[in-house]
Amino acid sequence: MTEPVLVDWNSEKSAEFRRGVIQARHRLNRAPEFSDLSLASLLNRHPRELCDFCTMGEDPADRESWRAGDPGKLDGQQLLEAVREGKLWINLRDAMNVDPVFKPLFASLMAQLKHLNPGFNPMRAYGGILISSPRAQVFYHADVSETFLLHVRGKKRFRIYPPRAPWLEDVALEDILHKDQTEDVPYESSWDVDAAQIDLEPGDFVSWPLHAPHRVENLDGLNVSITCEMVTKESLMKNAVHHANGAMRRMGFTPKSTKTTGFEAYTKLAMSKVWKGWTTISGVGAKPMPKSETTFDVDVASQDGYRDRAAV
Ligand SMILES: [Fe+2]
Repeated sequence: MTEPVLVDWNSEKSAEFRRGVIQARHRLNRAPEFSDLSLASLLNRHPRELCDFCTMGEDPADRESWRAGDPGKLDGQQLLEAVREGKLWINLRDAMNVDPVFKPLFASLMAQLKHLNPGFNPMRAYGGILISSPRAQVFYHADVSETFLLHVRGKKRFRIYPPRAPWLEDVALEDILHKDQTEDVPYESSWDVDAAQIDLEPGDFVSWPLHAPHRVENLDGLNVSITCEMVTKESLMKNAVHHANGAMRRMGFTPKSTKTTGFEAYTKLAMSKVWKGWTTISGVGAKPMPKSETTFDVDVASQDGYRDRAAV
């Protein structure tokens, strides 16, 4: 595709990009690459180690209900059917940046974003494709990289919360960066009034500031979205400062500043590198990520699209 991906970008969006919540329109919802047929063959060829198959409960506060499953020998068409009729969430990690069919779309999107936003030059960028059921949800969490989303099919409600306390406590972010916690952070339903609530239709683009917690509820139809993650100089620096603050807290100090400029910030950048080096050598940082155990099998014939495995 040589035509631009984003269709209504302007100077106001440019000024707010990565600083606030931005909405724009894109044209990938009309791209044949996202048809059932094309997604089914992507499901068949994408490396299984880059695919997550998950389900979850109804309560947005019950993140313990998030669990992983096994697609078994089902082919792409059957997996799509199970998602359409059931309660499943499939993440095809890196599909946009490694798959030969989708890579050109991602390259064109990233090139356009760089062109439209002078000074924006991510060091690394990744794009995944999410395929999820009409009633699926993603629990409240904060990503450690800069992220944005292009919605392609179905309808979903997106809520974005401010990237600061009480919605995101410094300690919670430090725990994520120290891998003591997944990207899930504490959530209160009363915070929903503080969120930017956006109902996404096919062709909607949304982006938000680094670390802004968000949660998603699907509203209708088979949902397909592209999620993009980027490592930028700014995200590296911010994460290093929070990581160093976490290291200080683990040594019994109470860090006060989260400033990302000045001498103190650069000292923290160095400190963060030393701590990471030490935990890698000593093995302290090598903790398995939770929830990798598979507790269900995808099953087209079951009402929710999966069958629980018997507890061992
Ligand atoms: Fe996210």
